[in-house]
Amino acid sequence: NTNIVVAIDGYSSCGKSTLAKALSKKLHFIYVDSGAMYRAVALYFLRNNVDMTDHEQIAQALQNIHLNFHSRDYQTHIILNGEEVSEEIRLMPVSEKVAAVASLHQVRVEMVKQQQRMGKSSNIVMDGRDIGTAVFPHAQVKIFMTADPKIRAERRFKELAPKNPDLTLEEIFESLAHRDYQDTTRAESPLIRADDAIILDNTELTPDEQLQFVLDKVLPFVEQTK
Ligand code: C5P
Repeated sequence: NTNIVVAIDGYSSCGKSTLAKALSKKLHFIYVDSGAMYRAVALYFLRNNVDMTDHEQIAQALQNIHLNFHSRDYQTHIILNGEEVSEEIRLMPVSEKVAAVASLHQVRVEMVKQQQRMGKSSNIVMDGRDIGTAVFPHAQVKIFMTADPKIRAERRFKELAPKNPDLTLEEIFESLAHRDYQDTTRAESPLIRADDAIILDNTELTPDEQLQFVLDKVLPFVEQTK
C-alpha cells in the first residue's frame, strides 16, 4: 500500500485547515477536516438533546448520524443526514459544545473508524487533534502546528466578527483557551505531539511559507511513488 498520508494536528485556530486545503489542492490529495466531523456530531447532539451521560442514547445517536463530504470550488461541504451544515457547525453553540462531545469514547471510536476508511485508498491530508497519534500513526508526514494564542484569537476574531457583531476578542480568546485545555487534558487521545511530528509554529509565517515548508517534507514521498 503506497498511498501517502499527511497528518496535521495542533491547537484550535492555528490555521491547520488553511494549510491542509492549500496542500491538498497543490498535490491533488483528498482533504478531510476531521474537526468538522466532531462538530457535526456535536450539532446533532445539541439539536436532539442527547444525554452525554447515557451510553445507550449516545450509541443510538451515532447510529442515526450519517456524515458525508462534498468538495466543490475547493471548499469542503459537510453533510449531516442530507443537510448541508458547513456554516452552522462554525457558530458559537457548536464551538462551545464540541470538545465535550469529542471527549466521549464512543464518539471517538466511530469517527476514527470512518477516518481510517477514508485514508485507505487515496492520498490524503487530514487535520485534527489525534491524526498523527491515533488515526494514522504510520502517516509518512506528521505536522504539529502551534501559534501565539493572542495571534490565533485575533485571526479567528477577524474571521467571525463580520457575521457576529456582538462577539468580542476576549470572548474568542477565552473560548479558544478553554477548548485547548479540554483537548489537551482529556483522557482519550488528547492533543499531543506525536514523537515523529514536525513542529510548525506559524506565528510569523505567511500561508505560502507554511505551504512550502510542508511541501518540502511531502514531495520526496510523492517522488517515490512515481
Ligand atoms: O478543528 P476544529 O477546531 O474544527 O475541531 C473542533 C473540535 O473537535 C476540537 O476542539 C476537538 O475537541 C475536536 N476534535 C478532536 N479530534 C480531531 C479533530 C477535532 O477531538 N481529530
